[in-house]
Amino acid sequence: MTDGQRIAIASDHAGFELKETLEAALRAMGYDVEDLGTNSPDSTDYADYAHPLAERVATGAVPRGVLLCGTGLGMSYAANRHAGVRAAVSWAPEIAELARRHNDANVLVLPARFVEPELAVQILKTWLDTPFEGGRHARRVEKIEPSSLTEGNSR
Ligand code: RB5
Repeated sequence: MTDGQRIAIASDHAGFELKETLEAALRAMGYDVEDLGTNSPDSTDYADYAHPLAERVATGAVPRGVLLCGTGLGMSYAANRHAGVRAAVSWAPEIAELARRHNDANVLVLPARFVEPELAVQILKTWLDTPFEGGRHARRVEKIEPSSLTEGNSR
């Protein structure tokens, strides 16, 4: 059930066109989409878009987000600086599936210059539909935050 579920999306210029495609796909699936830009193919800096989106996910304002840039790397570096954000660069549905099952990825990052639109929609759908497995993976995900080192989390 996706009706009304909120999701944020943002890109730099390299991801702009694919962002528009994925945003339309999300709306067609019934998502309530927050588009945080960019709004044209004019040159921009990816971090200016990654940080606001990651902040929305980190604070729980939106449960999930999607970021796009040329390689996916700049967006993931910036987003993953935010505590609680797990941004996964995914270039195949299998990676998106494991990013959900094992890593509970709450941000999907797409390398817009290296995936065709049809594949990108497939990756997005897989990521949206795959649940987190929990169990041993929950323990591992907890250990991602550096604060777990000082909380005696040495299991
Ligand atoms: C923009 O040319 C490009 O550097 C950017 O989209 C991204 O790939 C950075 O990681």
